[in-house]
Amino acid sequence: MADWKNPPRLFIPGPVKVNDDVLQQLARPTLGHRGKEYAQLHGETVDMLKKILFTEQNVFLFTSSASGIWEAAIRNCVGFDETVLCTCCGAFSDKWADVARDCGRNVDELKVDWGKPVLSEMIDEKLATGKYAAVTLVYNETSTGLTNPLYEVSEMMKAKYPDVLVFVDTVSAMVGLPLHFDQLGWDVALASVQKAFAIPPGLAVAAVSSRALEKSKSVPGRGYYFDFQLFAKSAEKNQTPTTPNIPHIMALNYQCERLLKEGMEKVWDRHKQMGDFVRAWAKEKFTLFCEEKYASNTLTTIKNTRGINVAEVISSVQQKHNTIFGNGYGKLKEETFRIAHMGDITLDDLKELLGWIDDEIR
Ligand SMILES: Cc1ncc(COP(=O)(O)O)c(C=O)c1O
Repeated sequence: MADWKNPPRLFIPGPVKVNDDVLQQLARPTLGHRGKEYAQLHGETVDMLKKILFTEQNVFLFTSSASGIWEAAIRNCVGFDETVLCTCCGAFSDKWADVARDCGRNVDELKVDWGKPVLSEMIDEKLATGKYAAVTLVYNETSTGLTNPLYEVSEMMKAKYPDVLVFVDTVSAMVGLPLHFDQLGWDVALASVQKAFAIPPGLAVAAVSSRALEKSKSVPGRGYYFDFQLFAKSAEKNQTPTTPNIPHIMALNYQCERLLKEGMEKVWDRHKQMGDFVRAWAKEKFTLFCEEKYASNTLTTIKNTRGINVAEVISSVQQKHNTIFGNGYGKLKEETFRIAHMGDITLDDLKELLGWIDDEIR
């Protein structure tokens, strides 16, 4: 019987397992958000995030999930008379295009089949038309378990289209995959904390370039809650425009300290080791949904080549071990399933989970 008071261990691709010491950070006494103590917490956390994201530009904290920042990037930085190119390769990147349209902007889509990467030359061909003010990219498509080759894409864009703004969904990539914001020349990189930061949901983080901030000054209709100008003004005082989710920021501060102590190279390497381990199992027992070259180090989407009843296996593992993993997302349900290997999930956790799945499919 499902019981929220005895929650299952999570291997779904977010929210993921949260360690007890992190949960305890959420139980600290709260602070006044205009007081000196909060300013200290905020300043420290942002400084650490800048190191984690390799940026000397702006980092803002949003009391929302990542989808809010999809909207923020568009509403702050794309004018109504401009067009944004949305690259679409799965459920989440497709959705960002819908959101941009919902924001009343002109949207063109560059679509590839789910499970295929968006390549530099495809984007180059579109941008060569000179039609676009901005492009949206997804670093790691959580529905297909695919990592787009964004270092290559970014090199091409910096060399050939330096004036086109670059917005990147790094929701299931941030922390788990290399991300050198300034070197990549990105303008917005957004994520929520329930993925590789391994914190419960309720907070989003974004790096925002100085030129994106400058651009936003002249864009009308930015709205209130996600107005980058208000965030920049509050950041000068180490504050947010409205009351932030302070318990989450305490947990984020704690996690950032741990990440920096470990060192980002090691953090990325740890994620690669987990990715290699799950991919080896997936290839032996099933196949990978996307080409291995593009397979993600934060989650694996596995093609259900044995025709197992995925929902039944998930349910059985839950009943026996109070642990769940992910069915395929949207149209990929049952055709695939997904295992997260990010944040504070360990190799030992994964060995245990894959053993339990083996028991079910034997
Ligand atoms: C790649 C990607 N983008 C965006 C989202 C939406 O994030 P949130 O639910 O934090 O709004 C998700 C959620 O899983 C995601 O995986």
